[in-house]
Amino acid sequence: MGTPIIRPFNESDLPGAAAALVSVHATDGYPVEGVEDPEGWIQSPHVQAAWISESDGKIVGHVSVMRPQGEDAVAMWQEQSGDNDDHVAVLARLFVLQEARKHALGEQLMRAAMTWAQGQGIRLVLDVMTKDTSAIRLYQRLGWIKIGETTHTFGDDQHTDAICFVAPEA
Ligand SMILES: CC(C)(COP(=O)(O)OP(=O)(O)OC[C@H]1O[C@@H](n2cnc3c(N)ncnc32)[C@H](O)[C@@H]1OP(=O)(O)O)[C@@H](O)C(=O)NCCC(=O)NCCS
Repeated sequence: MGTPIIRPFNESDLPGAAAALVSVHATDGYPVEGVEDPEGWIQSPHVQAAWISESDGKIVGHVSVMRPQGEDAVAMWQEQSGDNDDHVAVLARLFVLQEARKHALGEQLMRAAMTWAQGQGIRLVLDVMTKDTSAIRLYQRLGWIKIGETTHTFGDDQHTDAICFVAPEA
């Protein structure tokens, strides 16, 4: 692998990011939904900002920050903090191709999103399925704080346990 870079997402990154997503779904079962339309899942109208990791011209990682859409993590944090929708956003769509892992790309993508949010005066929250243990370790290593637990419902009435986190204070 060449030396990867982290940079803001461009519209022309969509096919490459979608291909990476389909690959991560095959290796990790993430996401549990959305791979029927990977481009639509990545380029949601609710995205406020997004970044990719690129290596030798190939997209190997992605993360986005999204406006609240009624997520449990948002409600939990708003109840605990009193913050309103203008000051909370959701870190989402974090993935790194299996072949590019353990080179701190996940960490750098997280730091890009966290730095951006701090600059906007926005507190980030997220939810992560309990099965995604690498991601949970990453969030904890970066100082994210558990704010509660929830159940993620998807597909044909399927359920999976998830943990809600808030980013550390700026
Ligand atoms: C979670 C995920 C994004 C992490 O990506 P990553 O690029 O491997 O992340 P990092 O490299 O920053 O950290 C991963 C591990 O590599 C280690 N690492 C980082 N740089 C390293 C290096 N130079 N040498 C050796 N190990 C290194 C980290 O310490 C960490 O170790 P751990 O697993 O024991 O905690 C990736 O595993 C993934 O895409 N998972 C599937 C999708 C998913 O779960 N997304 C989250 C949804 S909420």
